[in-house]
Formats: sequence, structure tokens, C-alpha cells
Amino acid sequence: MTPNQGMPPKLPIPGVKNLIAVGSGKGGVGKTTVAVNLAVGLAALGHKSGLMDADVYGPNVPLMMGINRTPMAHGERIQPLEQFGVRLMSMGFLSPGDKPLVWRGPMLHSVVQQFLRGVDWGELDYLIIDLPPGTGDVALSLIQTAPVTGAIVVTTPSDVSLEDARKAIHMFNQVKVPILGIVENMSWLSCPHCHERIDVFSYGGGRRTAEEMGVHFLAELPLDPEVRVGGDTGKPIVLRKGQGEPFLDLARNAAARTAEEGAREGPTIEISD
Ligand SMILES: Nc1ncnc2c1ncn2[C@@H]1O[C@H](COP(=O)(O)OP(=O)(O)OP(=O)(O)O)[C@@H](O)[C@H]1O
Ligand SMILES: [Mg+2]
Repeated sequence: MTPNQGMPPKLPIPGVKNLIAVGSGKGGVGKTTVAVNLAVGLAALGHKSGLMDADVYGPNVPLMMGINRTPMAHGERIQPLEQFGVRLMSMGFLSPGDKPLVWRGPMLHSVVQQFLRGVDWGELDYLIIDLPPGTGDVALSLIQTAPVTGAIVVTTPSDVSLEDARKAIHMFNQVKVPILGIVENMSWLSCPHCHERIDVFSYGGGRRTAEEMGVHFLAELPLDPEVRVGGDTGKPIVLRKGQGEPFLDLARNAAARTAEEGAREGPTIEISD
């Protein structure tokens, strides 16, 4: 019995060395913020980096990357856009505006497949995938059909978020996607007046949960109004000297963990019987 029985084989994406999924159990914990800054950080460190926005219903990548144009097609293949050295694809580029999409399972599946295989990603060291919140259809469809090298689970330190993060880790375990590690976002706030540290959502739960579940802890990222401003204005914080440092560290740690998992996994192709 193969772990992927009943599903199509996880064919590699030509030219793409590593596929990293960024997910969480809970919405609004900072997945897109982490995915964007990770992709831009990896590019800033000299890697060839891409970012695929798999949040088909709520694509936030165009806003956070400060770009929204319709991609060109070249023959059968869509050409990704490029910003800050990162190749990009998002549903937001194809259906701009505020109208929600009302697609169901099979159509979602085919969009995700189109984004993976119908986009001319070229040579990439890392393709980061920003997953929608939760453990629903899109996340499952994607990780069951793509050769995901590893997943990053984003959480805040609050118990509610950690409970959902554990669910996400179980989901990745069930579908045999290695966990690269947990990222604790909104770990603390530095008071702008007295610079005292305020643990808005509690503190340290990400690291504790990582230890309990036997996964790595990748980074703790501060709750910083400038991170939000960077997201809203399309200027990722990782590019800022000083304030961007924790995000750059995350990119370094994620790259190191990906190399470990890549070495463990061997070739990404899964041969079906
Ligand atoms: N460390 C942080 N400091 C300050 N603001 C942050 C931080 N992380 C995220 N935010 C802000 O919080 C909001 C939610 O973040 P984001 O969209 O990245 O979360 P998400 O998990 O992708 O949400 P969804 O589940 O809706 O996809 C955004 O406005 C973002 O700018
Ligand atoms: Mg998001």
C-alpha cells in the first residue's frame, strides 16, 4: 500500500527544487505575512524564490506584495508576475475586485493544479505556498497532489491558536508532509513608549508546543505595527534594516530545515504501483 493510494502520483514540478507550504489551523494568525516575508527574505538571501497564493477565496498576496496586474499567457502557460525578486501567482491577479468567488470543490482543485503546473515558474530554489486558513479542501487537495518538501505551521502564543495549530500538524502528519517547524507570530509587543515587553497573546506556547509534538521551532516574530503597515502598503518588513531581522532569521532557518528534509526524503517523485 502506498501512502498516496487512490490519488494521482505526486509528480515533481519541473525546475522547482523545494515546495514549502505555509499553513495554520486558525485564520488571521499571520500565514500570508509569514509566506510573503519568507519568500522575499529567501530572495534577499540570494535564492530563487516564488510565491503561490493558494487562498483562492481571500487572496491577500497582491496587496501584501504591492502588485496587481493581469499575468500574460505564453502559449498554454501563464507567466508569473515578479516583485522584489519573487515570482508570483494569485487568484487576485485573475479576478481583481472585492467580489468573493463561489466555487466548489472540483473547481478549486483545478485552480490549485493550474497554479502549480500551468504557471511557468522556471528554475526555483523555493516555491512558497500560502495556504488558506484551516484544514479544508484547498489545503488537502494541494498537499495530496503536490510534492511538498515540508510545511510551516504559523500560530500565535494563545491557547486557542495553539489548539488549532496542533490540528494542522496532525493533518500534515496524516498526509505524510514533513513539518519544517512552528513559527510563533505576534509573540510579544514592545511598548512604543516605555519599550517594556507586553505579551499580548501570552508567550512561549509555540516553542512549548513544538517540543511536545517533536517538531522544530523556527522563529518568534514580534507583534509590530510596522509589520501590518508593511502588509497594507505592499512593502514587506523583511526588507527593512533592523525590524526585518527576525523575518530574515526565519528565512535562514526555513532554508536550513528544508535542506535537512530534502536530504531525508530523497527524490520527490512518488512512484505509484
Ligand atoms: N507580527 C505582526 N505584527 C503586526 N501585525 C501583523 C503581524 N502578523 C500579521 N499581522 C497583521 O495581521 C493581519 C492578519 O495577518 P495575515 O493576513 O498574514 O493572516 P492570515 O493567517 O494569512 O489570515 P487568513 O487566515 O485570513 O488568511 C494583517 O493585517 C497583518 O498585516
Ligand atoms: Mg492569509
